[in-house]
Amino acid sequence: MVIGILKEEGSEKRVALLPEAVAILTKMMVTVYVEKDAGMNAFSYDKDYETAGAKIALKNEVIQQSELLIKINPPSDAELAAMKEKTIFLAVLNPFFNKELIQSLAMKNITGFSLDVIPRTSRAQSMDILSSMATVAGYKAVLTAANALPKFFPMFMTAAGTITPAKVLILGAGVAGLQALATSRKLGAVVEVFDVRAAVKEEVMGLGGKFVEVEGAIDDKSAGGYAVEQSAEFKKKQAEAVHDHGIKSDVVICTAQIPGKKAPVLLTKETVEAMKPGSVIIDLAASTGGNCALTKNNETIIHSGVKIIGNSFFPVDMPTDASKMFGKNVINFLKLMVNAKGELNLNWEDDIVKGTCVTFNREIVNERIKALITI
Ligand code: NAI
Repeated sequence: MVIGILKEEGSEKRVALLPEAVAILTKMMVTVYVEKDAGMNAFSYDKDYETAGAKIALKNEVIQQSELLIKINPPSDAELAAMKEKTIFLAVLNPFFNKELIQSLAMKNITGFSLDVIPRTSRAQSMDILSSMATVAGYKAVLTAANALPKFFPMFMTAAGTITPAKVLILGAGVAGLQALATSRKLGAVVEVFDVRAAVKEEVMGLGGKFVEVEGAIDDKSAGGYAVEQSAEFKKKQAEAVHDHGIKSDVVICTAQIPGKKAPVLLTKETVEAMKPGSVIIDLAASTGGNCALTKNNETIIHSGVKIIGNSFFPVDMPTDASKMFGKNVINFLKLMVNAKGELNLNWEDDIVKGTCVTFNREIVNERIKALITI
């Protein structure tokens, strides 16, 4: 089969597959086309892709030659227009927030796979691009906070006196939150963590964090390791606890989310106004509204002396390793779709293949997405 890698557009610096991932595909007897300069911003050049066995071509040729196209971001209008019917398109389509795009893919008879809806099962762990990107974001969030904070992270005993360690509060102990915890601890901060899922308490403690418990959370085990909407009474109790801990913190890292929904607002304007001037809030949930009521997506603002950074593109700032992880996840996913002769083999009996497909044969096929969208 022929697979094409498209160059990302705008400020995106990542590429879906680095040359090392392309080499795995060419060994699997797949022909790979790579759009000219696709990896340039991740420091991988056309000659590196050629060494890995790929053919370099202009965008339209890549689209015309390929049965399956891979990109990180959704297709541009021009890319969509150039695609042949029945092309398989693999990307992070963010279908819950991109209904029109999903409808267009179905109408054009493109078989769309959205890598962000890969089921979170243990077999799919090696394909979980959301976890990979959240790992990058959790790490970068802490480095960004440390850079922006007008004080040290670690404790220092110096001839000029003792410097107390920074206090970090992390909201949400999923992949990004746990990575932020580990990175903050490595930098020597004292870290507190909130989550509605009591199951993460041991992990938090194992990484050297203090788990702040608020009683009465609804922890639905059937939600596949994700949080569920909380009661009004719990939200009130939680807001009070976040306020009490937030005002004592130098840094708050916001990572709480419920997939497919607007991010829960956990840090109110009143809490921000009661925080110490010079404190820093990094809101990783900015793209879905933010956990802080004042967050502005992809903006940095200062309110009452508190810096609120709403960066939704942290992985873009670490393009080499972010692309490496993304590509490894994609290769693991493609192994489910390519047989030993390098031919396409779409197995609809496979729950991962089925669960990741969003459009097929002019229809929206993913049940969760279908429930939200009607053509
Ligand atoms: P995750 O689903 O693994 O973790 C989210 C955590 O939040 C879960 O542990 C959940 O129980 C917790 N949570 C949900 N509601 C809560 C509440 N009301 N109070 C306390 N905890 C609550 O998500 P992951 O992969 O760690 O991603 C976290 C956030 O980071 C998401 O919003 C994601 O979109 C964002 N993200 C941002 C990036 C950036 O560059 N800014 C890059 C990658 C991810």
